[in-house]
Amino acid sequence: MVKTDFLVIGSGIAGLSFALKVADLGEVIIITKKNDSESSTNYAQGGIAGAIGSDDSKEQHITDTITAGCDLCHKDMVKVVIDEGPMVINQFMSWGCRFTRGADGKLALGREGGHSRNRIVHADDLTGHEIEIALLAQVKEHPNITLLENHITVDLLTEHNVAVMTKHGAVTCFGAYVLDVENGQVETFLSGTTMLATGGTGAVYLHTTNPDIATGDGIVMAYRAGAKVGNLEFMQFHPTSLMLSGGKSFLISEAVRGFGGVIVDETGRRVMEDHPLKDLAPRDIVARTIDHHLKNSGEEHVFLDITRKDPDAIKKRFPNIYETCLTHGIDITNDPIPVVPAAHYMCGGVVTDSYGRTSITNLFAAGEVAFTGLHGANRLASNSLLEAVVMVDRAASAVREKRQKPSELPEVSEWSEKGTFKHDEWVIISHDRQNIRRLMWDLVGIVRSDFRLRRAENRITLIRDEVREYYRKTRLSLELVELRNLVIIAWLIVISARHRKESRGLHYTTDYPNRDDSLWKHDTIIQNEEIIL
Ligand code: FAD
Ligand code: SIN
Repeated sequence: MVKTDFLVIGSGIAGLSFALKVADLGEVIIITKKNDSESSTNYAQGGIAGAIGSDDSKEQHITDTITAGCDLCHKDMVKVVIDEGPMVINQFMSWGCRFTRGADGKLALGREGGHSRNRIVHADDLTGHEIEIALLAQVKEHPNITLLENHITVDLLTEHNVAVMTKHGAVTCFGAYVLDVENGQVETFLSGTTMLATGGTGAVYLHTTNPDIATGDGIVMAYRAGAKVGNLEFMQFHPTSLMLSGGKSFLISEAVRGFGGVIVDETGRRVMEDHPLKDLAPRDIVARTIDHHLKNSGEEHVFLDITRKDPDAIKKRFPNIYETCLTHGIDITNDPIPVVPAAHYMCGGVVTDSYGRTSITNLFAAGEVAFTGLHGANRLASNSLLEAVVMVDRAASAVREKRQKPSELPEVSEWSEKGTFKHDEWVIISHDRQNIRRLMWDLVGIVRSDFRLRRAENRITLIRDEVREYYRKTRLSLELVELRNLVIIAWLIVISARHRKESRGLHYTTDYPNRDDSLWKHDTIIQNEEIIL
């Protein structure tokens, strides 16, 4: 049994920055399920939104965020996060991030969909990698921080794991059970404060821009422990992802359209011609227009064409996209890039207040795993790296005020493997994972309907029951822990989508094609298997 002041689950931007912010208060342990840099953060391309241009204002950034979010954003949270934009950019630089500058020496500002001004601070097209490397370097130097790779949290520890219930009905987090993937042992980590920073859920869809780690673990662990989760019907699909062999994809940043790239069909017609914002319309609209075009034309993909721009300027601005496409036989300075939409960002998550506190005492959540209310029904591009740092900063100020001491933690039962066996049924796990991902893609994608969602719920419920049965009898592995979470996150997305009987932002259903503010201008909140709002 390990005791620590702070247990941080995840080593992306949210986890690493929280560890740095609280490390002067006590011992911090970061748990991460693969290698230290494997996270969505590491692949972020476009950048960080901040109203720092001379023609820009915080008010304009707030308006763009609320417009993209289709009036479901929590306006107080939008203000809290956007007000801190310039502070966050400075914070990144103080951590050692080197951002791209113009000829005048000022930070270069890119443009993305839904933004009415150029306001995206970036490090070429490798912004996330620059951030991840800078944060990891700081974390590794800090004497109070230990980072454990190849450790996956299985479940959060609450009153259910304490021999004698502390307070009837209360739910408090005391840490987590953690599987050491290399030796197969489950260890108990007790902590005064636990920070969930496990990222998103894109891997629940067949085609996604997310790395494989994005299996929704944090949302599902918090939900299992009794936390409120919200707005899971709002999965964002990025309009332009390059499809690779083996079902993998590679993001082609929206910044490419901000730089002058246009989406065309195989005849060269502009797909976004009819929208007033053309290729820089909000993401939900561009993705839906492409989806509609592909279904009506029978074409397999559209093209993102940047060939009219100067080749040297393209290579300088997008070195990573240029090189990666080249390895797949596409020279983006000459050839239009074949692209399709792919699952990209979960706008919902574990419900938090404006200080990152969840509905479970001593459990915080920040980054993509959290639902703060900022994004509403559709996230504005490049607002998520910003949100992560603002919320971490506020969570750190909350624990500075008040936190549980590890010496006051109760005794918790150790993990028991009794009744489990080592099964060699890898094929069951991999088939179920693929089935869930295909089913979500086919039935719970960009365009939904009552018929498709009902079918999805029936099938996922069946797989969920089988996985539950298998899980009870089987010794843990990383793959099994992820499958158990994937099936539940799929189920939560489906029941949230079935509940919302209107179309708004990222949730579009042919049975209720219009937005209905009289009945649905509110979040979808689920707790203990019930939709409570
Ligand atoms: P992540 O960075 O995903 O980190 C999650 C961490 O949790 C990982 O270390 C993972 O291994 C670990 N983990 C997960 N489950 C467990 C578990 N059970 N036990 C232990 N560890 C676990 N946003 C922007 O604002 N601007 C952009 O330009 C941008 N570009 C993007 C490009 C791509 C290709 C993608 C995929 C996303 C992009 N986003 C962008 C979104 C943004 O990158 C993410 O929302 C953000 O990085 C999430 O950070 P995070 O710290 O919450 O999670
Ligand atoms: C991109 O570069 O297109 C991704 C930006 C984001 O998801 O915020």
